[in-house]
Amino acid sequence: MVKAAVLNGVGEDLQVHDDIEQAPPSAGEVKIKVVASGVCHSDLSVQNGTIPLPTPMVLGHEGAGIVEEVGEGVTSVAPGDHVVLSFVPACGDCYYCNRGQGFLCEKSAMAAAGGMLDGSTRLTLDGQPLRQMAHCGTFGNYAIVPEISVVKIDQDVDLRYAALIGCGVLTGVGAALNTANIRPGDTVAVIGCGGVGLNVIQGARIAGAEKIIAVDMFESKLKMAEQFGATDLVKADDGDPVAAVAALSGGRGADVAFEVIGLGPTIEQAINMTRNGGEAILVGVPRMDVMLNLNAAFTFLYLAKTVKGCWYGSSNVHEDVPKLIQLYKDGQLMLEELVSREIGVDGINEAFTAMGQGEVARSLINHTH
Ligand code: APR
Ligand code: ZN
Ligand code: ZN
Repeated sequence: MVKAAVLNGVGEDLQVHDDIEQAPPSAGEVKIKVVASGVCHSDLSVQNGTIPLPTPMVLGHEGAGIVEEVGEGVTSVAPGDHVVLSFVPACGDCYYCNRGQGFLCEKSAMAAAGGMLDGSTRLTLDGQPLRQMAHCGTFGNYAIVPEISVVKIDQDVDLRYAALIGCGVLTGVGAALNTANIRPGDTVAVIGCGGVGLNVIQGARIAGAEKIIAVDMFESKLKMAEQFGATDLVKADDGDPVAAVAALSGGRGADVAFEVIGLGPTIEQAINMTRNGGEAILVGVPRMDVMLNLNAAFTFLYLAKTVKGCWYGSSNVHEDVPKLIQLYKDGQLMLEELVSREIGVDGINEAFTAMGQGEVARSLINHTH
């Protein structure tokens, strides 16, 4: 039996069930004992309908654990291996994977439906099929996932911190190191300093940015931003953040600006605070109906700005997870500091509330509690 937090319908609290049945892994699948899962804003976005996914579904897409059992034909991992779960499967062999864009792998088509690669599910509750968010469903203590959704890691890394790599770190640090072209000495602005934005900030620091301007509504988040490498702090509701970034950059604007919330107005701010010829990187996931209000001639032609979409930090997980682990071991990447609270899965609804109130970088569900 699996114990997991389940979303039954948009806008409802998650319900924790401990009597979920789980079929064994099929060919090409792996059963994971999930040790820990971060609580990401995208989980809340599924709960509140910003990201529309079918229900009932076990949420959670930022996790790590131990391989318990493997299905037929699985060769890349064996029972006992420690793994980070990737919320985008990366087959290594499709059009996108072959072009270094594993984050767009063609095998990820089923992720939105919440089934396995063939669309079926391995979980049932009261006889009804139960889906898993992005093939992960890490709010459950066991998950069956495609082999191409796991990345083996060294056993000496604490799985609680490795879990955070699965979304926030890959997305945020990847946005800075893969998507953007940050040059040493650059001025970077980051709007939104949550679990993902703090990782953009530390990615910018690792990339050699000299000035890192953090923008957030909450003082508490700006304090965390400073800890992760921000050099200048802008309280979003103390006037216009675009003007504040201009004032901090000799009137030019940021060489690279990141939006890490997913709101129309802050996406426009990020583009407007980018200097002429600079880059705006869109990381936050907006509602499906958000449209932008931009002047086409100025933004793209006369001011020659580049706007880049960033999905999963433009990551190739099979290469980037080991690189991030190495950065962590070298003392450059902060992971422990991202965990504000460690909770049991029963605390999930309170964790969503705490996220909305700016109290936490990340809440971390420890399934061994
Ligand atoms: N201006 C500035 N900051 C804001 C604003 C605003 N108008 N609105 C919200 N924020 C800040 C919050 O205070 C918070 O610190 O944005 C931050 C968002 O952080 P989290 O809620 O922790 O979200 P996170 O998990 O970091 O995800 C950010 O990335 O992966 C996507 O779906 C995810 O769109 C979401 C984004
Ligand atoms: Zn692929
Ligand atoms: Zn996430």
